[in-house]
Amino acid sequence: MKSQTILKATNLSHQFDYPLYNNLNFSLKAKESMAILGVSGSGKSTILNHLSTMLKPNYGQVDLLNILDIYSQPKDKLLEIRRYDLGIIFQSHYLFAGFSALENLKVASLLTDKKIDTHLLEKLNVNHILTQSIGSLSGGQQQRLSIARVLCKQPKIIFADEPTGNLDSKTASIVMESIFEYIQDNNAALILATHDEGIAKECKFTYRLINQQLEKI
Ligand SMILES: Nc1ncnc2c1ncn2[C@@H]1O[C@H](COP(=O)(O)OP(=O)(O)OP(=O)(O)O)[C@@H](O)[C@H]1O
Ligand SMILES: [Mg+2]
Repeated sequence: MKSQTILKATNLSHQFDYPLYNNLNFSLKAKESMAILGVSGSGKSTILNHLSTMLKPNYGQVDLLNILDIYSQPKDKLLEIRRYDLGIIFQSHYLFAGFSALENLKVASLLTDKKIDTHLLEKLNVNHILTQSIGSLSGGQQQRLSIARVLCKQPKIIFADEPTGNLDSKTASIVMESIFEYIQDNNAALILATHDEGIAKECKFTYRLINQQLEKI
């Protein structure tokens, strides 16, 4: 893999009940971003799962950071890069429901030995809800908190699956701005699955998953 390349997918193919995609090839360098559009069920989340160590594809290879062919690695190694290097923003967020907002941030901070970034909390407008329990937060506040939790880990690659799905358009732009700023400032990369064409086009590379291929837009 070239030195600056952060992620490389080679000949990815996968199917569940029906073939999703065939021979996908792409790569990303530090500070770069890519978006995947496509109708529901086309396989966007499945691609993110392959790239983020969660699901081995039927065919093909994924290289992450300096690890070639992640699925040839032992499970411990994958757990380690998932914990320290990957920032995964799921379609449905997994905050710990019995805890406060601040406790949720502290767990991530303890696990990765990184300080909670108060500037980021202000930017994402979650600094004032830290003592509230997760159950008392609005859907959008939960979404912004889970993004803050991921970025506080200082990941090298961010996988974001519909990160702005629960948000109004103004909040969505603030959230995307924070993520883009993060990847620039930290030499990280972003892979985004979204239905929002406007947001997708802000990425350096924009693809549509259609007819089992990634078409460049
Ligand atoms: N673990 C699984 N087992 C069986 N089928 C699955 C599994 N995960 C996903 N699928 C199927 O694969 C197809 C693609 O799913 P995926 O979640 O990747 O779509 P998507 O493009 O992210 O859709 P959406 O826009 O609705 O989020 C769907 O038909 C889904 O039911
Ligand atoms: Mg999806």
